[in-house]
Amino acid sequence: MDDPQETTRSANSWKKLERLLGEIETGETPKPDWIDLSGKKRRLAYWRTIARNGFHDFAEDQWMKCFDSPFVENYDYVAPYIDGGGLDSLDPYMVYSSVLGTWEYSVEDFVHTDLLSDVTTIVEPLAGTAEFCYAGHFQYPDFRYVMFDLDEDAKAHVEAKRWLPQTKREFIIGDALVESTWEAVRAASVGKSVAYIGKQSHNFFGAKEIMKVLEWGTRHCDHLMLEISEPYLLDEEPTIDDLTRPEQRGVGISVALDDVEDKPANPLTNSMDFYLIAEDKEDRRNLFSYCGWIGWQAPTLTALGRILDLEVRYYHSEKTEFLSVDVDTDTSDCRDNNTFLLFSRA
Ligand SMILES: C[S@@+](CC[C@H](N)C(=O)[O-])C[C@H]1O[C@@H](n2cnc3c(N)ncnc32)[C@H](O)[C@@H]1O
Repeated sequence: MDDPQETTRSANSWKKLERLLGEIETGETPKPDWIDLSGKKRRLAYWRTIARNGFHDFAEDQWMKCFDSPFVENYDYVAPYIDGGGLDSLDPYMVYSSVLGTWEYSVEDFVHTDLLSDVTTIVEPLAGTAEFCYAGHFQYPDFRYVMFDLDEDAKAHVEAKRWLPQTKREFIIGDALVESTWEAVRAASVGKSVAYIGKQSHNFFGAKEIMKVLEWGTRHCDHLMLEISEPYLLDEEPTIDDLTRPEQRGVGISVALDDVEDKPANPLTNSMDFYLIAEDKEDRRNLFSYCGWIGWQAPTLTALGRILDLEVRYYHSEKTEFLSVDVDTDTSDCRDNNTFLLFSRA
C-alpha cells in the first residue's frame, strides 16, 4: 500500500488564512493535514514573546523550559541583532545552544544508577554553556557543581544565568590539559564526584590529550563520563550543514556548519575541520572553530582507558545502569544511539 501523502497549505497573512479556512469549511478546498503559518514577521514576534517568557523550541520536543526551573528565563537571543548590533552582538553561546546544545540525558538519569548513587559533586569540564550542571541543579540543588572552561566569556555567560541561591557552585577558568585545573576541581568538590563531557567537547582533543584527560579526570574525580556517538564510518557521517532556525531566518541570519576548504574529513584519523558560522547579507562570523575535531569512537576510547588500567563501563539505557563494556551490548541501543562511557579507577 502507498504511504498516505501528507498535504500542507500555507498562509502568510491573516486574510489568506481566513480565506483558506472559509474554502475548507465550504468544501471548496480539501482539508490539508497541516497549515503552515508563514507570516515571517508575525512568526518572529510570536517566537520572541514565547522565548522571552521562559520557553524555547531548541529541542525536538518543541517548547521546553529548563526542567524544574522556577524562573522565567529569557531565551530571546536575537534581540541585540534586531537592535542593530550586527553579527558581533550575537552571543555565540546562545546561538550554539539554539542549534547544537540540546540534550536528552541529564544528571538525574546518571545519579539514579547503583554505581553513581553516592555522587554529590557534578563536574562539567569544557563547560561552555554548562547546560548539564544548570539543568541538574534544579533537580539536585544540594549537590555541588564545579564547572571549568578556558573561556572567560563562558564563565560570564554561565554566571549570568539564574541559579538557585542555595546551590554551591564554582566556575573555574582552566585548561583541561593542565593537571592543576583538575586539582582545583578536586579542591572544590565534596564527596564522590562524576565529571561529564559532551561529545561536542572531548572531540577537540587529540590522542595524547585525551589520555591526559582520562588520567587526570579519573585521578581527581571519582568517575569521568564521555558522551559518544553511535558507531559510524566517517564518510557516512550524516552532516547537517545548514542549521538555520526560523527566528534566525526571520531576522535575516543563517547559521551553518561550514567545512574548512581543502581539508576533507580523514577516515584514518577521524579528524574533521569545520566552523559554526553565522552569516547575514553584509557579514560572516565564525562563532566556534572545530579544527582538528576528532570523532572519537567507543573502541578507541575503551582501548585508551584500558592502557591506563581504568574500569570502562557504558550506560545501558534500557537497564538504566552502568555496565562493563564486556556485557549486554546486544540488548543495548549503543549501536544506534549516543551512549556514555564511564571511566573509573579500579
Ligand atoms: C562547544 S562548547 C561545548 C559546550 C557543552 N559542554 C557541550 O558539550 O555541548 C566547547 C567548550 O570547550 C572549551 N574548551 C576547549 N578546549 C578546552 C580546554 N583545553 N580546556 C578547557 N576548556 C576548553 C571551549 O572554550 C568551549 O567553551
